[in-house]
Amino acid sequence: MTTPTEPELLSLLRAVIDPELGGNVVDLGMATVTGITPEGIVNVGFKLTIRGCPLRQQLKNDIESRVGSHPGVTKVVIDWGEMSQEERTAVMGRARWNARAEDDATQVSVDTRVFAISSGKGGVGKSSVTVNLAAAMAHRGATVGVLDADIWGFSIPRMLGLTDRLQAQRFEGHEKPMIVPNERRIGSGVLKVVSTGMMLDDEDTALMWRGLMLTKAVEQFLNDVNWGKLDYLLIDMPPGTGDVQMGLARMLPRTELVIVTTPALAAQKVAARAADMARRSFLRVAGVIENMSAFECAHGDQYPLFGQGGGLALASDIGVPLLGQIPLEPAVSRGGDVGEPAVLTSDSPAARVFLQIADTLIAETIPANSLSECSARQAEPETTQVSLRRS
Ligand SMILES: Nc1ncnc2c1ncn2[C@@H]1O[C@H](COP(=O)(O)OP(=O)(O)OP(=O)(O)O)[C@@H](O)[C@H]1O
Ligand SMILES: [Mg+2]
Repeated sequence: MTTPTEPELLSLLRAVIDPELGGNVVDLGMATVTGITPEGIVNVGFKLTIRGCPLRQQLKNDIESRVGSHPGVTKVVIDWGEMSQEERTAVMGRARWNARAEDDATQVSVDTRVFAISSGKGGVGKSSVTVNLAAAMAHRGATVGVLDADIWGFSIPRMLGLTDRLQAQRFEGHEKPMIVPNERRIGSGVLKVVSTGMMLDDEDTALMWRGLMLTKAVEQFLNDVNWGKLDYLLIDMPPGTGDVQMGLARMLPRTELVIVTTPALAAQKVAARAADMARRSFLRVAGVIENMSAFECAHGDQYPLFGQGGGLALASDIGVPLLGQIPLEPAVSRGGDVGEPAVLTSDSPAARVFLQIADTLIAETIPANSLSECSARQAEPETTQVSLRRS
């Protein structure tokens, strides 16, 4: 174990975004590294815009998991402080500046929560999980982007019944035309979907894309798609490549991994590789989903066809929650074949677990309008109040 260095820790902290101020907490001047012991105990100084900020718990979790992902860190201690009026004003200025600078980075706005659905190996149900979770979140009223990062093994278009060619359009404020995602309304929510499967005319074009570096293609989807406002972006990861994950760590460091595994205890080793990759790319793991868990027959008897216990074992190994166990169910594969995610069409055990996982992930996200207490927007009127009192 090597002792972490300050630059390493700061680069990890840069992945922590203050959702309200819309910037990373280091460049905003909120977080500093105040101590590193040879035993790997790291002190982080953090100044909240106001004490009692409801975001505090979320920031704490984020800081602990980001900094804690460094192999040399044994403990993270956060020393909380509160900004002075001058500091609040300065942070506001930086937040405004960042908001403009961020515009040039990806088209995914900083308040979109990004989940990459990954696994250590192919065929465990990443794409099925992606479409069902996305549909479940939209069903709850969210606007959800789906980015198919399985560039030449794409299956998202078929699974969502969205196979139209993607169109490009000119938008105000952008020099070149932008790709418009294919949309599908679900209740009061909406899915916005892009995939190479919506770009290819024939095998020849497919071959052309093969020459393109995987990460380049994903980068294009992040930069050249007019995503608009998204609550969540779900990325369906390709099997068995670390490139895309490393690329995401660079382009969208706030990406959180959701690791899909089968219940077989042997599969755990493979999935653990994905977790290890997460550590090396410094991405936060939001949790584990066990897919293809025990099939439940009409009489309620359980048949653990693919083994038992793999999800829980992996989750406790890497210290993240087991978000749910999705049973093997014909409705899931049928739904994928006909473009209707099972979560929307059946009231089956699998559908219920998908909804429950979506609810867990949604509950972790604090909606922007409930943040007003400690937001920079509130910091401004407060500044005015102070100056009024002074005059
Ligand atoms: N819970 C489930 N019950 C029944 N069938 C399932 C379930 N989950 C996935 N499947 C089926 O298993 C197959 C593989 O699933 P899927 O394509 O989602 O996996 P993947 O991890 O995305 O694969 P790849 O690595 O090839 O991208 C599909 O035919 C799918 O319909
Ligand atoms: Mg897939």
